[in-house]
Amino acid sequence: MGSLFALPAAVLGFFVRLGWVRSIALFVGGAFALVATMSLYSGISAYYASPPTVLASAEFHLEPKELALRSDGPFGNFKNQAQLQRGFQVYSEVCSACHSMNFVAFRDLKGLGYNDAEIKKIASDWKNQVPSVNPDTGEAATRKALPSDHFPSPFLNETQARAANNNALPPDLSLITKSREGGAAYVYSLLTGYASQAGYKNEDGKELLKEFPDAKTPTNLHFNPYFANLNLAMPPPLTSEGQVSYADGTKPTVDQMARDVSAFLVWTAEPNLERRHAAGLPVTVFLLVAALLAYLACQNIWAGVKGKARAADPPAPRTPAKIRRAKGNAGITG
Ligand code: HEC
Repeated sequence: MGSLFALPAAVLGFFVRLGWVRSIALFVGGAFALVATMSLYSGISAYYASPPTVLASAEFHLEPKELALRSDGPFGNFKNQAQLQRGFQVYSEVCSACHSMNFVAFRDLKGLGYNDAEIKKIASDWKNQVPSVNPDTGEAATRKALPSDHFPSPFLNETQARAANNNALPPDLSLITKSREGGAAYVYSLLTGYASQAGYKNEDGKELLKEFPDAKTPTNLHFNPYFANLNLAMPPPLTSEGQVSYADGTKPTVDQMARDVSAFLVWTAEPNLERRHAAGLPVTVFLLVAALLAYLACQNIWAGVKGKARAADPPAPRTPAKIRRAKGNAGITG
């Protein structure tokens, strides 16, 4: 074993004697710097040789528009019941042709101010029936919805939904305002944001099809700059004023219907938002008071102990000046 290390040790000893250890360190450092520079150079040259592709969506995708709703903010509530009911009407007359709402039951509509009889009627009149089994033959069947049923899908399954929608799947709308960045404002912007792609310019005045001729909307898709990749499979669902007729006299413009259904979809995503908000303030006040009490209790419990320790045993001097003074007082020199 001894001879195994003898040679390297002798070589190292030689270098040490010559003072070469520093040179070796320099050599290793130099090699490292060379490799780092080479890799930096190859990275930079690759960047210029084939610059990263800029997608049309990076320059032409728009952030959601502003949408102010009663449910916004820490004190938001659902006191805009008339608007929520109008939103439900838009969902039932327009969106429910393609979108399910599987997390909301008909009886939940009580939260929008409908009474039991109205809910029963809404459920049994609902145009999409609920999948069921024929009790006599055991074959698949459908039946009228009950208040305890959840809003059913207009399609039997995903395959049928895709077949009817150019291979795109209309998502369940129950939680859509939670699952998309921008929430209700995004839904509102999407519904009102369809545009004609020919000649479309962004805020900088750049024309989409001139900058990106390849970004032409494929057939069966629809151009909408609020959608992440600018083209979506949903045809504009709200197209003309008066598409639904509101019983409360509100003018059913496209903008109004889009606002109403977005407000409604905030409610479906979190029907207990009011209760959560109502609990928030008292809980915060309670925690503040509890924190104050805990602080005062702590002061009270430790007051005697801390006071005594200080009297019997003065704290050691910390700064050099204090140490010198203390030594002088005690008659210590040096
Ligand atoms: C004709 C069928 C149809 C109707 C009616 C319809 N949608 Fe859609 N919707 C779709 C399809 C299909 C998609 C999937 C689009 C895609 O992925 O490209 C979709 C997607 C969506 C999305 C999700 C977009 C995203 O970010 O992924 C929202 C939100 C939406 N629809 C809301 C509505 C609302 C609100 C209504 C009623 C006013 C409505 N839709 C009516 C077919 C429809």
